[in-house]
Amino acid sequence: MEAPTPPVPVCLVYRPRPLMTHSVKIAPSILSADFARLGEEISAMARAGCDWLHVDVMDGHYVPNLTMGPMVVAACRACTSTPLDVHLMIAPVDPLLPAFARAGADIISFHPDASDDPARTIAAIRKLGVRAGLVLNPQTPPETLAPFLADISLVLQMTVQPGFGGQAWLPDSPQKIARVRALLTAANSDAELEVDGGITPETARASVAAGASVLVAGTSCFANGPKAYADNIARLRRGARAAA
Ligand code: DX5
Ligand code: ZN
Repeated sequence: MEAPTPPVPVCLVYRPRPLMTHSVKIAPSILSADFARLGEEISAMARAGCDWLHVDVMDGHYVPNLTMGPMVVAACRACTSTPLDVHLMIAPVDPLLPAFARAGADIISFHPDASDDPARTIAAIRKLGVRAGLVLNPQTPPETLAPFLADISLVLQMTVQPGFGGQAWLPDSPQKIARVRALLTAANSDAELEVDGGITPETARASVAAGASVLVAGTSCFANGPKAYADNIARLRRGARAAA
């Protein structure tokens, strides 16, 4: 008679690890902050526990809105050590890179169609000691990323058309996010997959389920004033965890 097989200790039983949702980062977009009290807003949001701060730079040329430049990044840098995730919606890109790097940007992402040579722009960002990211508009094929995947630390998949806060998340976003996630996995890239636009606890869940690792949110994070910021972030984190 065969000896009974010893029970396998529970710790050796393989359990699929839940999606590492606790590694999902929250990056409030300061476009939704009260600019009359920007310093207080930045400090309050940092105290509320955000992981990054997203700075939406718009030039009124690449997108039909004009927002902020290196001076505002420098002002944010003076208020907090929270990583500054600078999203450039400007064209051309290269001439202003040194100023954003000097101002204290930790990550600079740009739209590839705003540069006549995205590889050169990525190299220029990295040469300044800043992490480089590429931004996909909703209509940009993810395959656009292919030549640059080895050199970027972040892909920003827009889930609204760039230019304004407060827009509704585009319903076909999960498919786009999943295609980018598949590309990053196939390329064995450890780049962050950030999503941006219309992020609420509900769309956070769908975005993380599709493969997002960083959530940008302006309206959701800055709603109801500084006393609500920690709750706003917690609600987004709960939405992200619900993806598991
Ligand atoms: C839009 C910006 C987004 C936007 C997010 O062009 O890139 O970062 O400010 O704002 P909400 O979260 O309000 O959609
Ligand atoms: Zn943005």
